[in-house]
Amino acid sequence: MKNILIVGAGGQIGSELVPYLQNIYGKNNVVATDINCSACNKLAENGPFEELDALDANKYAEIVKKYKIDTIFNLVALLSATGEKNPQLAWKINMGALLNSLEIARENKCAVFTPSSIGAFGASSPLDNTPQDTVMRPSTIYGVCKVTGEMLSDYYYTRFGVDTRSVRFPGIISNLTLPGGGTTDYAVEIYYAAIKEKKFTCPLPAGTFLDMMYMPDALEACVQLMEADPSKLKHRNSFNITAMSFDPAKIYEAIKKRIPDFTMDYNVEPVKKAIADSWPNSMDDSCARAEWGWNPKWNLETMTDDMLKVVGDKFKKGLF
Ligand code: SER
Repeated sequence: MKNILIVGAGGQIGSELVPYLQNIYGKNNVVATDINCSACNKLAENGPFEELDALDANKYAEIVKKYKIDTIFNLVALLSATGEKNPQLAWKINMGALLNSLEIARENKCAVFTPSSIGAFGASSPLDNTPQDTVMRPSTIYGVCKVTGEMLSDYYYTRFGVDTRSVRFPGIISNLTLPGGGTTDYAVEIYYAAIKEKKFTCPLPAGTFLDMMYMPDALEACVQLMEADPSKLKHRNSFNITAMSFDPAKIYEAIKKRIPDFTMDYNVEPVKKAIADSWPNSMDDSCARAEWGWNPKWNLETMTDDMLKVVGDKFKKGLF
């Protein structure tokens, strides 16, 4: 990777991936783009920034040519719960951005990274120790887009030689930009609520186990996979990766150990519960470990220490 384009840079992953890549590859070699300029003021201050609607193929291609881009991170997506509110729009945005990314990559000889998700699985997949290669019949439009995207990305690799790679991210926990409209968002919101109000109302019931990961591991995965020796990759789109699996009761316990007067109750949201129930409890990520050295560093305890420290500092500074 030399000249990198991040599409959808203002979101939860992009806002941290941009500075992370700038540190490694140089500030001027990472171009941030987003449809929403105001979300990107900070990104624009630190390096090249362009306003881009990923569905605008002409402008997208111009930017790729202007900066001589060789690697595209396509991070544009409506998440699972939002997608169910407007499935047609979710298909249009999620698939439109991916198809433009793949076509522009084919024409300009770029590599493409696109996140897939635990949401690519469905209730008929084995939900414990979910294998890398198994039944994938998701019940959400988000998942339908992810499975289609995985297949389309593999197709562009085998048919046109486009260097496409991706991971199936679990819920990502972070403290810079809040996620929005996802089923796993509760695992971020709980830390903010614990610091601010010392109480949290959980939208998923106890016993709902899902794979999760702290943002630093997610960022490292992006670079590790894109820098991996292609001859070692038996898979491409997309690798299971996980760092931990917990349910609401377990994350609550971890926080309560550190904030003894923290309380949690439940107000289960049926759409989110149905989505979470159809997703893996824990994935098998042995292929990622074997093929490109995936090895997460953070677990629930170390992540909770760090989240409470960082979110606590933000609160003291009046940032939320
Ligand atoms: N975090 C996403 C969601 O909950 C899953 O990839 O929608």
